[in-house]
Amino acid sequence: MSSRTVLFTGGAGFIGLHVVPLLLERGYRVRIFDNMFRGDRDRVAELAATGRVELIDQDVRYGGAVYRVMRGCDHVIHFAAVSINKSQADPYESIDINMVGNHNVFAAAAEHRIRRLVYASSASVYGEPRKLPMHEDDELNPLTPYCIAKRAGEDLLRFYQRQRGLSWIALRFFNVYGPGQKPTAYYTSVINHFVARLRNGQPPVIDGRGEQSMDFIHVRDIARGVVAALESERGNMPINLGTGVDTSVAQLAKILIDAVGVDVTPEFNPRDVLVSRRAADIRRAREVLGWQPTVSIEDGMADLVRRTPAGSRRTPAPDRLPRTPAPSSTS
Ligand SMILES: NC(=O)c1ccc[n+]([C@@H]2O[C@H](COP(=O)([O-])OP(=O)(O)OC[C@H]3O[C@@H](n4cnc5c(N)ncnc54)[C@H](O)[C@@H]3O)[C@@H](O)[C@H]2O)c1
Repeated sequence: MSSRTVLFTGGAGFIGLHVVPLLLERGYRVRIFDNMFRGDRDRVAELAATGRVELIDQDVRYGGAVYRVMRGCDHVIHFAAVSINKSQADPYESIDINMVGNHNVFAAAAEHRIRRLVYASSASVYGEPRKLPMHEDDELNPLTPYCIAKRAGEDLLRFYQRQRGLSWIALRFFNVYGPGQKPTAYYTSVINHFVARLRNGQPPVIDGRGEQSMDFIHVRDIARGVVAALESERGNMPINLGTGVDTSVAQLAKILIDAVGVDVTPEFNPRDVLVSRRAADIRRAREVLGWQPTVSIEDGMADLVRRTPAGSRRTPAPDRLPRTPAPSSTS
């Protein structure tokens, strides 16, 4: 148990709101630093009622604000970022928030002698992988301003480690899903799209043959990984957080048909699609963090369908899913 304070940028977003309750359980105080562009004010207010969470409604682009607010904090979790699709539509904003914002947070953390900084990196730093599963030492080939900034963030962390002894872990999240996820999320929006159709009794429509795959990881498992990274003895490295299982879009459609419980068959829209595939090598997460995924995709999707009303952006209270065995790894 800890009586320490965590500065948590972007802590009012989808994943952050699943991490904060775990931090409270472990005795931390949490200072959420979020400009509330995508944050959930109602859920933050519920957490603030514990007396151990406060919201600083500010922007990571303002280095002075970041520096001041970090005073007295022991740990930092840096999540604040704009999404991949916005980064393509508006690279200027993306670089400002995701690159300059990163630097403001990392430089302040080094200056304040923060014990551990956990950074939300992304599987998208790999670009299109040459092989599966994707290992942390594989070649990186980031393709958009968002992915480029995520990779540069990792490089900046190494710089502050060398220059000032900053202790860090960059978690490369794969395709995170679960209660509270945004309907517009770049990769996982396919889930919302299929569920919306199934709820209307319509079959999911799959582009191409549905061979493109993702490594869907439940937000509850991600939240446990973030806390493990904050507390692990070893650091200064990127670590994949995924399940190790690549689930094709066609398999996802079948899983969601079962989860919604309708009797339909997917339709295929024959056209050329780029068949990208994703699966994480999670041996490092196991070794360094003692972490492994616990929510199978079938249970996670069934839970998501059950708990998220159509069109909702609300994040339900922390998960109370039954424990399930770890899915088998493809690695
Ligand atoms: N969700 C995924 O599948 C996924 C995958 C890989 C990496 N990530 C990364 O994980 C982190 C959390 O993702 P999420 O899904 O919870 O995203 P999210 O958009 O729900 O949360 C991000 C939070 O950052 C805040 N924010 C945005 N710009 C800000 C700024 N300029 N100053 C202060 N706060 C700002 C938003 O208001 C929001 O609350 C992000 O860094 C994201 O890039 C997410």
